[in-house]
Amino acid sequence: MQIVFATNNEHKLREINHILGDSFKLLSLRDLKIEDDIPENEPTLEGNALHKARHIYSIINMNVFADDTGLEIDVLNGQPGVHSARFAGESKDSNANIDKVLLMMGPSTNRIARFRTVIALIIDGREYLFKGSVEGSIINEKRGKEGFGYDPVFIPEGKEKTFAEMQLDEKNMISHRARAFEKLRVFLHNYKKADNKETI
Ligand code: IMP
Repeated sequence: MQIVFATNNEHKLREINHILGDSFKLLSLRDLKIEDDIPENEPTLEGNALHKARHIYSIINMNVFADDTGLEIDVLNGQPGVHSARFAGESKDSNANIDKVLLMMGPSTNRIARFRTVIALIIDGREYLFKGSVEGSIINEKRGKEGFGYDPVFIPEGKEKTFAEMQLDEKNMISHRARAFEKLRVFLHNYKKADNKETI
């Protein structure tokens, strides 16, 4: 089954290829020579993911999915949320983003946060959403060198290590993204079986 992942992030593409397995041929925007920088101006992760998928679908009319992820911190009323990538500015600097979050949280004892991923799939013209999240807490110092983004300050519930202190395999067992993509994988496998569509 051929399907477009509306991303140019090679790291994500590899990660998702690994999760979906060999029976799916993933095409990236680069493979399709689409260079649009799709704006992410919607107020929700759901809106952004749908917007990206619809935008690509309107260009190529092929089955497509897109994702959007955010870190939601309770004491900051869900910020940085949809603004996670550019929280401290257009340069998408992870260190600066973390510093801004820690400054805003100050000495607050409420450290509860979660990562949330939303995937929007358009298949045979129909739209579906898949969601995954992981609860955890924000610590006051950066720990670990693995991962990316806010990983050095996020400790998933029930663990002692930050995401940045975990190897990718360990993070992928519980991560928001892995959980959302596992739902997509199950859906696509069943869809393919039900319709006996080897190529779409
Ligand atoms: P995206 O929607 O996957 O591009 O994610 C938006 C932003 O959320 C990224 O630029 C990161 O700052 C943050 N983010 C997403 N996933 C993760 C993660 O697994 N760990 C840490 N930060 C993440």
